Amino acid sequence: MSLDTEGATRFKASIPADYDRTGAARRVGSLTPGSISHGPTEPREPRSQEGSAVSLPHDETAGSTKTDATGDIAAVIVLAAGQGTRMKSRLPKVLHLLAGKPLVWHALAAAAGLDPRLLVVVLGHGRDDVAAFLTASTDLPPVLIAIQEEQHGTGHACACALAVTGQLTGTVLVTYGDVPLLNTSTLAALAADHRANGNAVTVLTASMTDPAGYGRVVRDPAGQVAEIVEQKDANAEQRAIREVNSGVYAFDAGVLIDALGRLSSANAAGEQYLTDVVGIATSDGRRVGAVEVPDPVETEGVNDRVQLAELAKELNARLVRRAQLAGVTVHDPATTWLHADVTIGPDTEILPGTQLQAGTSVGSGCSIGPDTTLIACTVGDEASVVRSHCQGATIGAKATVGPFSYLRPGAVLDEGSKVGAFVELKNSTVGAGSKVPHLSYVGDTTIGRRTNIGAGTITANYDGDHKFPTVVGDHAFVGSNSTLVAPITVHDGAYVAAGSTVTTDVGPGDLAVARGRQHTVDGWTLRRRSGSPSATAAQAARSAGDQASADGAPAAPHTNETVPPNGSTGKPATAQGDQPA
Ligand code: UD1
Ligand code: CA
Repeated sequence: MSLDTEGATRFKASIPADYDRTGAARRVGSLTPGSISHGPTEPREPRSQEGSAVSLPHDETAGSTKTDATGDIAAVIVLAAGQGTRMKSRLPKVLHLLAGKPLVWHALAAAAGLDPRLLVVVLGHGRDDVAAFLTASTDLPPVLIAIQEEQHGTGHACACALAVTGQLTGTVLVTYGDVPLLNTSTLAALAADHRANGNAVTVLTASMTDPAGYGRVVRDPAGQVAEIVEQKDANAEQRAIREVNSGVYAFDAGVLIDALGRLSSANAAGEQYLTDVVGIATSDGRRVGAVEVPDPVETEGVNDRVQLAELAKELNARLVRRAQLAGVTVHDPATTWLHADVTIGPDTEILPGTQLQAGTSVGSGCSIGPDTTLIACTVGDEASVVRSHCQGATIGAKATVGPFSYLRPGAVLDEGSKVGAFVELKNSTVGAGSKVPHLSYVGDTTIGRRTNIGAGTITANYDGDHKFPTVVGDHAFVGSNSTLVAPITVHDGAYVAAGSTVTTDVGPGDLAVARGRQHTVDGWTLRRRSGSPSATAAQAARSAGDQASADGAPAAPHTNETVPPNGSTGKPATAQGDQPA
C-alpha cells in the first residue's frame, strides 16, 4: 500500500460507535476526514505484501499484479451488507469459509493485490462479527469499514462507502464480498482497460448460457454499452440477452459520486441500483465500456451452501494445480484439500485423502499422507507423515510420523525423530533422533536426543487439578508399558525397566525398576485345572522337558522358580523395552 494518504485511514477501522440509522455510515465526532471511529484498534504499520498470503490464490502470478497500465486505484469498494438468507446460518454469509478463509477475505485479498489507496468494505448484516474478523486479521492490509444499516440496494451501499472515504479522485472499483474466486489479474485488466479507453464506467461482463437472475448488458446499435437492466425489470427481448453484468465495475470517482446522487428506487425491487449508474453515464454522453471476464466462475457468487461447496472445489483445484506446477506431486487432486495460505516445497509428495489446512507449511522432499490432516503445522524437509492428524505441530526435517499418530498443539519433533503408531503427543518435544514408536501418550514432556520411549509408555501429567512436566534426558531408555508420573525427570543415560510406574526422579545412568515382583506357583494348572486342555498341554510340555533334560538339552522352566534376588524373573531388567524400530 502506498503511504501518501491520510494517516488515519491506514489503520484498521472498527464500526463507528455512532452511525446513521437510516443510511450511510458517517464520520463521527471530531475525527479527521477519511477515518471513522477506530474504537480500541491500535494504529499499526501497514503490512507489506511480499509473501504469498495476501495475493494468493487470487493472483496467478507472484508479487503485485499492479502495472502502470492499471494506474493508481483510488479505492476498491467491497459490498458485503446483504443478509445471505439462503445460507440458513447464524454466521454472516461472508464469514463462511472457503479454503480456510472467509469469503470476504478472498474478496479483500483479490482487491488488495491491486494496491489501492483505500480498501473499503460495506457491512450491514452480521457487521460486528465481520468487523471482528477484519480487525483480527493479520494478513490483510488495513480495511476501512462503512456501515449500511438498511439494505436499500447496491447503489445505496456504494453511497455508504463513499461517505467514509473522504474526497476521491481517479478510479474506483466495486466488487462483492460473496464472490471469492475473482482474480487480482482480472481486476487489473478491468482497471487497465478502463484507463486505456478513458472510460467513465467499465463493466466486467460474462457470457452466460443461462443468464437468469443477472442484470443484462444492453448495447446500442453501434455495439456500445447503453444500460444494464435487471432481470426483474427486463422485457422479453432484454431477457434473451446472454451478456450479463458480473457486478464488478471500474468507475471514474467523480462520475460515480454524481450518479449515485441521482439514483431512484422506482424499479421492480424498490432499490437504488448501482447498475443505473451505467444508464446515467451514457445518457450524460459519457463513455461506458465492457470487459469480458476470462472465466465466468470468477464472478460467481455464493448464495447457498451448494454454491459454497462448488466454489470450494473450484478453488481447491486451482490451489492443487498451482502446487503441482511448483513441483509438488499430488497423486489425487480430487481428495487433496489445500487451504489458501498453505506452502509446500518442491519434490514433496501428497498422497490421497490429505488435507493441509490454514497455517501449514511443508518443506521439500516430504511425503504426506495418505489420509492425513495437518492444521497449522510446520513440516521440515524430507519428513514423512502417514495417516495422521496433526494440529499446531512442528515436525522437523527427516522426522517420521504415523501411521495413526495424533500430534496436538505444541508437539515438536526435532530432526530425524520418530513418533509412531497410536501415539498422542501434546505440548512435548521429541529430541533429535529420539523415538516414541508405539501406543504412547506423551504430554508436557521434553525428551532429549537419541532416547527411546518404549511401547505403551504413558506420561501421567495430570492430577485432576494441574498439569505437570516430564523430562527425559539424552540416550535414555524407557521400557515398555511404563508410567512416568509427573513432575518427574529421567536423566541422561538412565533406564526404566518395562512395566514400571516411576514416581521419583531417575539419576543419570541409573536403572529404575518399579513394578510388582513376580511370584510363580509351581504346577498350579496341573492341580487346579486338572483335566483341562491347559493342564494337558502343560503336562505334555513338562514330560517333553523331562525327556529333553534326560537327553542333555536345556529343560523347560517348570521347576519351582522363586523370585530371584534382583527383583526380576531372571531376565535382564532393561531388555524389555521397545521392539527394534
Ligand atoms: C447484482 C446486480 C446485477 C448483477 C448481479 C451479479 C444490481 C442492482 N444488480 O444483482 O446486475 O448481474 O449483482 O451478481 O446491482 N449488497 C449490499 N447492500 C445492498 C444490496 C446488496 O451490500 O443494499 C451487496 C450484497 O451483500 C451482495 C452484492 O451487494 O454481496 C450484490 O447484491 P445482490 O442483492 O446479490 O445483487 P443481485 O440482485 O444479485
Ligand atoms: Ca447475488
